[in-house]
Amino acid sequence: MITIREIKQMQATSEKYRSEGKKIGFVPTMGFLHEGHLSLIRQMRPLCDILVVSIFVNPTQFAPSEDLEQYPRDFERDEKLCRNENVDIIFYPDSGQMYPAPYATYVHVENLTDTLCGASRPGHFRGVTTIVTKLFHIVKPHLAIFGEKDFQQAVVLKKMVVDLNFDVKIMTGPIIREEDGLAMSSRNKYLTANQRRQATIIYQSLQKAQEMVKAGERNSEVIRKYIIDNINRIPETKIDYVAVVNETTLKPVVQIDHHSVIALAVYIGSTRLIDNVRLNTIR
Ligand code: PAF
Repeated sequence: MITIREIKQMQATSEKYRSEGKKIGFVPTMGFLHEGHLSLIRQMRPLCDILVVSIFVNPTQFAPSEDLEQYPRDFERDEKLCRNENVDIIFYPDSGQMYPAPYATYVHVENLTDTLCGASRPGHFRGVTTIVTKLFHIVKPHLAIFGEKDFQQAVVLKKMVVDLNFDVKIMTGPIIREEDGLAMSSRNKYLTANQRRQATIIYQSLQKAQEMVKAGERNSEVIRKYIIDNINRIPETKIDYVAVVNETTLKPVVQIDHHSVIALAVYIGSTRLIDNVRLNTIR
C-alpha cells in the first residue's frame, strides 16, 4: 500500500493503471475510519484491481458554525486499517492543494439539496458534490461506493453523475450499526456515555416505525408522529427533521409505498446524528 499526497501523482498513477486496463475502485472518506467505512472497502475490494481510499476532511461541506476543527482525525490508525483491508492506495491531500486560493468553482445539484439535511445545512451538499467531482477527476475511478447512512448524499451524487455524464458507476453499502442499533458514525465519538445511551432511541423508533408499516400502516403522518413523540421523550434530544420521502425524488410522501424511506436528523446534546430506514421490504 502506498500513500499519495500530491494531486498530480495521483492522476498520473491512475492514468497508468487505466492504460494497463486495470479497474480502479474508489472509497471516498473523511477518515477516522470505522466499521461502516471498512464494510465499503470490503464490498469494493473484490470488484476492482486497484483500490483507492481517499482521506480528506472537506472544509467546503462544513458551515462556519460546524465541527470542521473538532472533526476527529487519526491518520496513522486509518493507515493501519487500510493496510489490513488490502487497500492499494490512500490518497491523502491537504486542503491547500484541493482548494488553492482564490478558489471559485463549485458543483451544485438543484432541487434535491435544499430539503432534509440540505435545509438545515445550507451549502453542505454543494461542498460534497464539489469535492466528489474533484476527487473523481483526480482518482479517475471506474467504480465508487458511498454509505447508505448518508442517504440523501447518495441520491444527490447519483443524480450528479448522471447529469454531468461522469463515467463512474456509483454503488452504495448498507448502514453498519453498533450492537444496540446506533448507526456507526465518526460523530458518535462526541457523545458522552449518557448521551450514547440516549442515542439508541433513534434506531429503536425507526425499527418500531418499520414494524408499524409492515403491520399495514400506510399513513406517513402517523409514522412521523410516532417517531417524533418517541424521540421527544428522551431528555437531551432535539429533532431536526423526521421525514417520509420518496427514495429518488426526496419529496414527502403521504401514502407509504415500497419506494418510501424514513429519514431523520436528531441532535443528542450538540451532536447531530442522521439515520434512515428503507420501507422497500413491505408488500
Ligand atoms: O460521506 C463522506 O464521508 C463525505 O461526505 C465524502 C463523500 C467523503 C465527501 O467529503
